Amino acid sequence: MKIHGTHYRTVWLKPGDPSVVQIIDQRHLPFELVIEDLRTLEDAAVAVKDMHARGAGLIGAMAGYGMYLAAFNALRGKFGPAAPAFQDEMEKAGAYLKATRPTAVNLEWGVNRSLAAMRANPADPLHAALHMALEIADEDAEYCRRIGEHGVEIIAEISKRKGGAPVNILTHCNAGWLAFVDYGTATAPMYAAFERGIPIHVWVDETRPRNQGARLTAYELGQHGVPHTVIADNVGGHLMQHGMVDMVITGADRVTHTGDAANKIGTYLKALAAKDNGVPFYVALPSSTFDWVMTDGVAQIPVEQRGGEEVTWIDGWTPEGVRSVRLTPAESPAANFGFDVTPARLISGLITERGICPASAPGVYSLYPEKRPEPQAAD
Ligand code: MRU
Repeated sequence: MKIHGTHYRTVWLKPGDPSVVQIIDQRHLPFELVIEDLRTLEDAAVAVKDMHARGAGLIGAMAGYGMYLAAFNALRGKFGPAAPAFQDEMEKAGAYLKATRPTAVNLEWGVNRSLAAMRANPADPLHAALHMALEIADEDAEYCRRIGEHGVEIIAEISKRKGGAPVNILTHCNAGWLAFVDYGTATAPMYAAFERGIPIHVWVDETRPRNQGARLTAYELGQHGVPHTVIADNVGGHLMQHGMVDMVITGADRVTHTGDAANKIGTYLKALAAKDNGVPFYVALPSSTFDWVMTDGVAQIPVEQRGGEEVTWIDGWTPEGVRSVRLTPAESPAANFGFDVTPARLISGLITERGICPASAPGVYSLYPEKRPEPQAAD
């Protein structure tokens, strides 16, 4: 998508220099556009852990590029591609990357795809890793585009019912293009509606503590010209009670094949309010975000806990640049749960690259029949 009229993706290989992967360092947005060079696996891991690059799909793409950097440096240094030590080093690199953030399943998925590609091409694992990084990134962008094509039909339907009055869509956190490689998931149907000339207006939850909504979603929508309003996190229920929200679309960091969705902390409360007010609540995700093993999201999905300073301090723009200020008494401890899980029963539908389905195992398998477990042979 565009920033100041120029097309960007969130991660790419530096043109003319295969030793460098470049990302938009999202810690500086919306105040400054900073491009960061990553040269090592450690650079990539820090970028994920400290959220220079964040969001489920982008983390999946970072897995691909991080493994490529690991292979690039290992081959340049001590190992030949066929050396058992190289394979060990790649396994270790994968485990190290996976440990950076636990909730988004895309990270594990991306690392596993890269490792499998390298194993399958022992003669040229570097080529395999690079090819896989590019494939993950291109696939992510294309799947998000298709999510937009499917999701826009729901918006079009509501627009028709409203006689063409603007469709009010509430979203939480940033499931926009900055959280993926391009387009985003929750935002893709919004961008598609905007392109088609369907009037929309987006309520953007600020999304404490890191304010991905206020900082990133608002920035993206603004750069694209989509009408939007930033609201404090607790406003959504009130708006729904007064008929000011026609639908909710959020992204997800992990969705069980039974339809439970982990997303940024606060999503569950929005889903409860939506249910209470008869507002449709959709979760948009690419298939890389499905967990095909877990069956009970609330009990099983690991929820990342981050440093309390993200709650007790806040960053903002001053005439001297970006500054951090304290919000709480110095002695008060803070807890920082990064995600919550919205049970399937509160979700109206899942918008995927293959279409829209109910948030249930039969619904998900109707779109992904190849993932249906084989029936067990009787003893
Ligand atoms: O902690 P983050 O910013 O990596 O959080 C992930 C998210 O961006 C949201 O939960 C988002 O809605 C999921 S879709 C990428």
